[in-house]
Order: sequence, then structure tokens, then C-alpha cells
Amino acid sequence: MNEIRVFCPATIANISCGFDVLGVALDTIGDEMVVRKTQEKGIRITKLEGQQLPMETHLNVAGVAGLALLALSDYDGGFEIEIYKKIKAGSGIGSSAASSAGAVWAMNKLLDTPFSTLELVKFAMEGERLASGVAHADNVAPALFGGFSLVRSYSPLDVIPIPSPKNLYATVIHPQIEVKTSDSRKILKTTISLEDGIKQWGNLGGLIAGLFTSDYDLISRSLEDHIVEPIRSILIPGFDAIKTAAIENGALGCGISGSGPSIFSFSKGEHAAKIVGKAMKEVYKKIGIDFDVHISKINTSGIKQLQNKK
Ligand code: HSE
Repeated sequence: MNEIRVFCPATIANISCGFDVLGVALDTIGDEMVVRKTQEKGIRITKLEGQQLPMETHLNVAGVAGLALLALSDYDGGFEIEIYKKIKAGSGIGSSAASSAGAVWAMNKLLDTPFSTLELVKFAMEGERLASGVAHADNVAPALFGGFSLVRSYSPLDVIPIPSPKNLYATVIHPQIEVKTSDSRKILKTTISLEDGIKQWGNLGGLIAGLFTSDYDLISRSLEDHIVEPIRSILIPGFDAIKTAAIENGALGCGISGSGPSIFSFSKGEHAAKIVGKAMKEVYKKIGIDFDVHISKINTSGIKQLQNKK
């Protein structure tokens, strides 16, 4: 196989109580990429549609992630990458992660999978380092593993795949403004109080337990963020009104998707997720803010190979 076309899913990182350590992959929104082996060494981005992003290998997250893989590979050729962006940059649903993870997943496949999924996470994290200044793994890990991923440790990297309850659906609303992850990280405090820490790790443990046991009430009780949301929500228009509308209309919980400005909520079942979506839309219609809405079940397989187009 010399060429592969892949679907690279959008992801929700943090999931309220899991800042930088928890994320989940979505099904109904994602980019497509075509990756091709070349005799010429190195990596070239030959096409980039859908977003204005740099095409120079060293300035492109897919390029940088791919170079990290090539550096540890004994393959003596190179790759060409075509990127078809559907996920908007700065939307908070893992745009850079989709490109970084998609590139290394496809390359690994074309090389007959010399690298483990955990190694691919490490390569893809280099794309995140380029995009945000921090090599966080909470978008690239779920993109590569599928479902929910817990980054138990960064050093050494230890990623734990977490099961997804069958009826869990996400609703994501994206107000049409761009928030750079690097900017929304700068406003965070670097220390937390013991009191907030206790609440946060109680909720994170509760959320993980709820996901393992498909206990929707426990998931709902655990979707709280006492540390990051109060600070970052200031950057998101209508955040409190959206959250209130989602919860009043039956959402299990609602919070900032990644570094925002997208807002996610979880629901039990697709019907409930649609009702929540409608309520969220109404809020932005009233305030006069343009938005996109995505409703998705959890994507348990992550990046997927697509049929090559003839
Ligand atoms: N954990 C990262 C952050 C995710 O919140 O900055 C960015 O998508």
C-alpha cells in the first residue's frame, strides 16, 4: 500500500474535571487526510483545503508530528500529505490534534505498523507543542485510541483507554469566534488551592468510575470543573446561559470543550442530545451569535481508514 485516506476525528478535551488528562473522540465531525509514500525523503504538505494554515513542513502540525515519527523510523523514503480540514482552527474540538494524529496514524499504517499507539501519541504531541506551546495529549490520545482516554502520567507517558457507555452522546456548540489554545492557557493560574484540588480529583475519579459502570447519574454528578471553567468561561460569549439551557433541557452536564470557545454537553441517548442542541442554539440565536452544532455518539475506534477516491 502506497497511499491511504483517513478520517481524523474531532475530540473534546478536559471534559470538565480532567484538565490536560482526559479526552474523548467524536464521530460526526472530523478532517480527512491522504498520505502517500514518496521516494524523496522528508515530508511535504502538498494540499491544504478548508482552513488557512501553514503548508511548510516545520510550521504545520501534521508535518512536525510526521517528522517526529520519521526520526525514529528506519524507512528511507518520505511522505506527501493532503489535508482536508473540516474542523475549524481555534474551535476547541481538537483541530490540530486531528491533523497531527491523522498524519502519524496513516504513516504508521503505510509502514506496516512498526509503532505502538502510545508511540504515535508521543509523535502527535509534537504537533500540539507547535500549535499551543504545550505538548498536551488529551486530544491526540483519544483521536488515536478512540473513545475516552485518560493520560495518567506525562512522564513517563501513560495513557489509559476508558470504556464508553453505549448511549452516551455529545452535543457541541461552536460560537464562530477563534480562541487560540496558547492564549486561553496564558490566563490560567499555575497553582490551585487544596480545597479545589479535593473537589476536582473527587469528580475526576467519579467520572472515570461512571464511565466504567455506565452510571449516567454518577457521570452527571461528576461533570464539574472548579478550576479552569470559572476563568476560561469569561472568553466564551453566553457561556452561563448555554450551560443553564443545556442542564434545564436534560443534559447530564455541560462545560468548555478543550480550550474553548466550543461548549460541550453529554446526554443519555441521541434524542436527548438533540433536545439539548436545540436549547443551546436558541440561546445563541437570541444573543445573535453565529454557531455550528455537532451531535455525535462517542467514536470508539478513533481514526479510521476510508476508501481511496479514484
Ligand atoms: N487540555 C488542553 C487545554 C486542551 O485545555 O489547554 C486544548 O484543546
